[in-house]
Amino acid sequence: MARFVRDAAVPGATPAAQRAILVRERANDVSALVQTDPIAVQQRFWSDWNTTTREKTLNRISLDQRKFVLDWLKRQGRTDLKMIEVGCGAGWLCSDLTPFGALTATDFCAEVLERAQARLPQVNFVAGDFMELDFGEAQYDVVICLEVLAHVADQPAFMARLARLLRPGGVLMLATQNAPVLQRWNKVPPPKPGNLRTWVDRHQLRALLEPQFEVDEISSLTPLANQGIMRLVNSEKLNRPIRLLFGDALERLKERAWLGWTLMTLARKPA
Ligand SMILES: C[S@@+](CC[C@H](N)C(=O)[O-])C[C@H]1O[C@@H](n2cnc3c(N)ncnc32)[C@H](O)[C@@H]1O
Repeated sequence: MARFVRDAAVPGATPAAQRAILVRERANDVSALVQTDPIAVQQRFWSDWNTTTREKTLNRISLDQRKFVLDWLKRQGRTDLKMIEVGCGAGWLCSDLTPFGALTATDFCAEVLERAQARLPQVNFVAGDFMELDFGEAQYDVVICLEVLAHVADQPAFMARLARLLRPGGVLMLATQNAPVLQRWNKVPPPKPGNLRTWVDRHQLRALLEPQFEVDEISSLTPLANQGIMRLVNSEKLNRPIRLLFGDALERLKERAWLGWTLMTLARKPA
């Protein structure tokens, strides 16, 4: 039976977001997790965020996600892929994707996408609520989706929509914030109105993927943490000499220990 849970019990939620979070009481069952907030409020929040943040800067987290996506695409050796980027934000990744084929990119924010469209006429930008837009069924070889899952109202329904876009055998490349790292090892400011935010851990991510996809890989990327013992473990003072001696071996070790900010997945729609 559905019930409202106390705000403090919802991962990543703070008072502003909590009033809007409805969780059915089935422990660890992410299929029962739904958040709400008016679409117009979400659009306003993300329009501001993309304008003030993502149109201006790219951080290490995004650069690592880009590397992962491009490495995989290069390995396909194809330039005729039909791709869609869902929640493309400011469209910063799009010009890197177009060498691999035809690209549609979609996000909430019409005015942000208008600017992206002016920069990148070769991309088909479509503005609107992804949960309402119709991109057809089984149309795409690749779906790319970076840091959107945590911010949608209904994660299982969102995943089902991503799967619907793909042809049998098509691939989803999805990045999402790694809940334990953000909750335990980082100080992240509370979400503002319109910023739905439910981070998942790797088990929850797998549970969300498995009804629709065969999971090829889930890994953690970009060890970043500024709280507790992790401040020391990640300090430049300690890491610089280790890097000089062993290259990026320590970073890879931390990623293997699931200490990366991002959970990155490659999943395939069954053929
Ligand atoms: C954290 S940002 C990530 C943006 C971009 N992928 C990046 O890595 O910079 C989340 C994005 O998801 C978009 N988004 C969230 N819910 C959406 C929805 N229902 N329909 C379309 N876009 C949505 C937001 O507008 C925002 O641009």
